[in-house]
Amino acid sequence: MNLLEVKDLETHFFSRAGVAKAVDKVSFNLEKGEILGVVGESGCGKSVTAMSILQLVKSPPGKIVGGEVLFEGQNLLALSEEEIEKVRGNRISMIFQEPMTSLNPLFTVGEQIMEPLRQHRGMDKNAAKAEAVKLLTDVGIPLPEERVDEYPNALSGGMRQRVMIAMALCCRPEILIADEPTTALDVTIQAQILELMKDLRDDIGTSIIMITHDLGVVAELCERAVVMYCGNIIESGAVEEIFKHPAHPYTQGLLKAIPKLTDDSNSKLYNIRGSVPNLMDLPKGCKFANRCDCCMDQCKTSMPDETFVSKGHMVRCFRNGGCENE
Ligand SMILES: Nc1ncnc2c1ncn2[C@@H]1O[C@H](COP(=O)(O)OP(=O)(O)OP(=O)(O)O)[C@@H](O)[C@H]1O
Ligand SMILES: [Mg+2]
Repeated sequence: MNLLEVKDLETHFFSRAGVAKAVDKVSFNLEKGEILGVVGESGCGKSVTAMSILQLVKSPPGKIVGGEVLFEGQNLLALSEEEIEKVRGNRISMIFQEPMTSLNPLFTVGEQIMEPLRQHRGMDKNAAKAEAVKLLTDVGIPLPEERVDEYPNALSGGMRQRVMIAMALCCRPEILIADEPTTALDVTIQAQILELMKDLRDDIGTSIIMITHDLGVVAELCERAVVMYCGNIIESGAVEEIFKHPAHPYTQGLLKAIPKLTDDSNSKLYNIRGSVPNLMDLPKGCKFANRCDCCMDQCKTSMPDETFVSKGHMVRCFRNGGCENE
């Protein structure tokens, strides 16, 4: 069953220079208990999509100009600030790319974790403190009994990231949106956090949207993935299917760009040629056309619709997956 349905979401940024269509008719579903990966290069609209779901895009300059986000059938975009606050951090929580976005420098780490525990889970002070220490332990913070009384500024970037993860997990959300949660962390702690997320799903059935540009994380953690390019989803499907049979030349490029241990040190790393177009001055046709080795005339004039190359495997490309090995 679909727990969350994002339908034709459009989020634009308005400035004197023009309109940037950061999220341009994005649609995807999230099933109960599923871990969905959202991948794509920097600036393709991953964070803005995530922030839009919880009405967190700052307006101005941003504005959600179209679409719906249905959570158990209710459109989150139509909720008042008061109503969405009851969902945010409680039923749907988010781990931000930048930890200080959600940590308050004026309160200790413990106070910030205990507050939602008392408010949403009805714990008394002692129980909340014990739970806060347990959560800090779970996310791999050394000396949690001492850290719990420290202020965020006394912690390193990686530690703050872990505190934020503990906060996001404390109310056992139905949906966790994790925006590059492990990018700033060492690989050992990264593995630990990914394990923690899997446990969260296995133990309490939390559905997870995992935003990352690390395809290794997607392969390790996610069952399904959507690939974004310039505000559009250009491919989606089961992770195994996407990795084995990538259908969009962009996805093929992303996969080819992963360094392999077998590469000898003299071999050149693959790079998708060219650069992402300016969102305020997008080409008329497929937004990837200027970088695509399989570009045809029609790609320069119109954007392909969604087509399915196999069950549940969607691509937006006129080649329909037919340009592999060219
Ligand atoms: N506050 C803002 N004002 C104007 N434009 C913005 C703002 N925030 C985002 N954008 C636009 O939205 C686009 C998508 O940004 P977003 O942060 O979603 O990218 P991302 O995919 O999360 O990238 P990254 O991997 O670097 O985090 C950007 O290219 C930018 O043009
Ligand atoms: Mg981002």
